Amino acid sequence: MTVDAAVTRRALLIAGGAAAAAVAVATQASAATPLFVHGVASGDPLPDGILLWTRVTPTAQATPGSGVGPATTVTWQVATDPGFAAVVRSGEFLTGPERDHTVKVDVRGLQPATTYWYRFGVAGQWSGTGRTLTAPADDAAVALLRLGVVSCSNWEAGYFAPYRLLAQRGDLQAVVHLGDYLYEYASGGFTAGGTVVRQAQPTHEIVSLADYRIRHAQYKTDPDAQALHAAVPWIITWDDHEVANDMWAGGAENHDPATEGSFAARVAAARQAYAEWMPVRLADDGHIYRRVRFGKLAELSMLDLRSYRSQQASGGAVDDPARTITGDDQMSWLKQGLAASTAQWKIVGNPDMIARVDVGTLPAWLLGPVGKLLGIPSNGYAINTDQWDGYNADRDELVNHLRANNVRDTVFITGDIHTSWANELTTLSTLNSPTAVEFVVPSITSDNVNDFVGVPPGLVGPIAASIVRAANPHVKWAELDGHGYGVLEVRPDSCRMDWYHVRERKDPNTTATKVKSYKVNKGVSRLVAG
Ligand SMILES: [Fe+2]
Repeated sequence: MTVDAAVTRRALLIAGGAAAAAVAVATQASAATPLFVHGVASGDPLPDGILLWTRVTPTAQATPGSGVGPATTVTWQVATDPGFAAVVRSGEFLTGPERDHTVKVDVRGLQPATTYWYRFGVAGQWSGTGRTLTAPADDAAVALLRLGVVSCSNWEAGYFAPYRLLAQRGDLQAVVHLGDYLYEYASGGFTAGGTVVRQAQPTHEIVSLADYRIRHAQYKTDPDAQALHAAVPWIITWDDHEVANDMWAGGAENHDPATEGSFAARVAAARQAYAEWMPVRLADDGHIYRRVRFGKLAELSMLDLRSYRSQQASGGAVDDPARTITGDDQMSWLKQGLAASTAQWKIVGNPDMIARVDVGTLPAWLLGPVGKLLGIPSNGYAINTDQWDGYNADRDELVNHLRANNVRDTVFITGDIHTSWANELTTLSTLNSPTAVEFVVPSITSDNVNDFVGVPPGLVGPIAASIVRAANPHVKWAELDGHGYGVLEVRPDSCRMDWYHVRERKDPNTTATKVKSYKVNKGVSRLVAG
């Protein structure tokens, strides 16, 4: 269903519900002592369960990252109606400063493919109301799965209008966030083409546990983020900026042990804050790669391409079989899962682009900005060694496995590079026989080609894109200037991505238009427009 455009952002916390009773409850809670100022969220739907999240501020001193404040018992309710007349699950959760007063409840005992409403309460005051959906039963025939797909939401570079626009749709089963949910830089470190649209908190680069908690909390005050979190469950993974730029297992480009301490300590701090503040079901050992199934129609494998990868390299080292982007355990899990899956569509939530991109023919004046975006050194070495292109052996291993096991209907959905692409997945030995397809969604706000050059969209991006396409025939479409989001529609016989770009990321009220659609029909691994 579509939410009436006239409703306020605040009322969008009731997204999809729109019942007068729920609006009244939320309005009462927001008018009283603001116990719940960071919104509500849900994530990782199961046929019988959902993860619920909020953060309570029990006293004025118990601010995020403060480490102070009383232990607080938070009541939660799940109902089949937005007025909470039919509460089907409820309970209490004890939180406190040791977990930054965040609340995560893994609710089970729910019905599959069902819409629920949920809320949290303390001492008779209720949070805003969230709406969520469970996954279909594993063996259910599903005619349509529609997912919002996003990545790279940089606070200082603009407003999160794509989140608002996705929340207003009312027709999504879930949102997939492919990483760079937040950025670690000091204020001014990564702007909108030189402009700080709104200042990050804390203003210094985040390194400590308190720093990461404060930055997470700020992102959770964004009204558009709150609206989308409250509208549908999210299925998320991290990329590098949830810790530091160009992270690998033992360090990061934006980490200096001499001034910022041990990298392991920084990772531990970042991961703890992430676990506290994000609606994600992590494994007992903390790993995030996991699967979410939508009946017989689709299975989504969410990857972690940062925690186990070898350090970025260049030259012939990109072919070194000893280097890895996934790590051995995750590669085994991925290969086994894709080959054994009984779902029609095998969708891979892939933080970093897997298609080969050779931009060696770019003229020097474009190699600067395009290279900056794609991570290409200014010496012109023609690949981005921070994505799968820097880890050829892992890509070959995965592609060869899919081919050897006749695995069809694999679709990678990808973020990270702030631009829009429709690719067929080939390797140097399978140039004319794609094994899968890849849909890359643009950034919510983070800079891309025209932003780096400092010119309006539509001037240099199309030139660069046409050169990239000429050198890479498996790249069917590339658009390097737009910001926005994707909507993935999965049906039994086809899988289609629609790309939407916003008019102006610096305008909180901006709108978006659909700029392109590509789909793949079952069994073929080739893209067709529209
Ligand atoms: Fe990013």
